[in-house]
Amino acid sequence: MSNWVNVGTTVDLKPGETKVVEVEGTDVALFNLDGEYYALEDVCTHDGAEIASGCILGDVIECPRHAARFSIRTGEVLAPPAYEPLHVFPVDIREGLIRVRDDRWD
Ligand code: FES
Repeated sequence: MSNWVNVGTTVDLKPGETKVVEVEGTDVALFNLDGEYYALEDVCTHDGAEIASGCILGDVIECPRHAARFSIRTGEVLAPPAYEPLHVFPVDIREGLIRVRDDRWD
């Protein structure tokens, strides 16, 4: 089973903000949605754009390249041209520390 990786503190990621962190060699887009934290693979499933640089619309992220939309909470595709969901990584918050685990190969 993969390990939890410290990726920052809750103080450093305010509500509505996102940042890219590295988890075991994978770029992960970390989001704070009103105090709830979500971690998605930072690669659009349509054509590989960095999803974290897209526009946040509530709990939706819009890809900066061709405007596919994904749920930040579930990774589900909400608008084409993407058809495959984004992977959502488990997030753990403990004493203000944000930890993410790459569970794709568990
Ligand atoms: S690369 Fe994201 S919609 Fe095309």
